[in-house]
Amino acid sequence: MSRLFHVVEAQQFNVELMANIFATAREMEQVVQHYGSNILSRRVMATLFYEPSTRTRLSFESAMCRLGGGVLTTENAREFSSAAKGETLEDTIRVVAGYADVIVMRHYESGTSKRAAAVSPVPVINAGDGSGQHPTQALLDMYTIQREIGRLDDIGIAMVGDLANGRTVRSLCYLLAKYRNPMIYFVAPQVVRMKDDIKEYLRRHHVSFVEAEDLYEVAPKVDVVYQTRIQKERFGDRITEYEQARGQYIINRALLDCMKKESVVMHPLPRVDEIDPDIDSDPRAAYFRQAHNGLYVRMALLRMLLGA
Ligand code: CP
Repeated sequence: MSRLFHVVEAQQFNVELMANIFATAREMEQVVQHYGSNILSRRVMATLFYEPSTRTRLSFESAMCRLGGGVLTTENAREFSSAAKGETLEDTIRVVAGYADVIVMRHYESGTSKRAAAVSPVPVINAGDGSGQHPTQALLDMYTIQREIGRLDDIGIAMVGDLANGRTVRSLCYLLAKYRNPMIYFVAPQVVRMKDDIKEYLRRHHVSFVEAEDLYEVAPKVDVVYQTRIQKERFGDRITEYEQARGQYIINRALLDCMKKESVVMHPLPRVDEIDPDIDSDPRAAYFRQAHNGLYVRMALLRMLLGA
């Protein structure tokens, strides 16, 4: 596809489109640091968030402000939108689409962005839907890999932690599969291993992957260690399973000592205890630069979606 409208899942993107987005994101770095821009003046973005967020909502809002546009926001839509009165998602979207030129939505149920897109006359951007996908996070992750490692082909990556509930790793698998010769190591506690649908997708697309237990064996082989939080909120009353998963894989100085000098540690954030803050000052700790890149990638997406 050469033209974007809704952004609901990572499978929509191809290498050419990502190259366009990443080139535009580089331009956006210049806009933020040097020029400023008003190319989206008179455009309005609505952010509808039914789940908590710091990075995704604020970076989208900052992106729109930095391009001269306006922002309408509901940060706790479950409680403070008319969802609390029983309004359907579809009706909410039809109404908000009358007030805004683009809707950025996070929801606690997988598949809701597709439902929203089906009724929306304006672009809908999936900002994370339950344990489903987080396509804009995956785009900023790929942009970060390109910026940090210098290429997107032949990438070795260890995805670590809560792979069953992690929408970021799911979307990232789809994007990595578009490039030449990725090698993916899934390193997860037994109760939160990567789900079969992603593994089947990777097999169908001839992407090499293995499931491994020993992170210390994997770490020296990869360009990226992509750590994720064990998502307590997805376990419900399965507290024992959460406690089993938590703390099994920690990135600390000892692990960094096993990694290649030119590799990086990434994390979509927020972190709890799965990365020791002692390593934050190591140049390979890329997670705050990664979060910062979200601004540029989301500016690029808004500019492309709104036709500026
Ligand atoms: N990475 C990410 O989605 O962070 P937030 O939950 O803070 O948006």
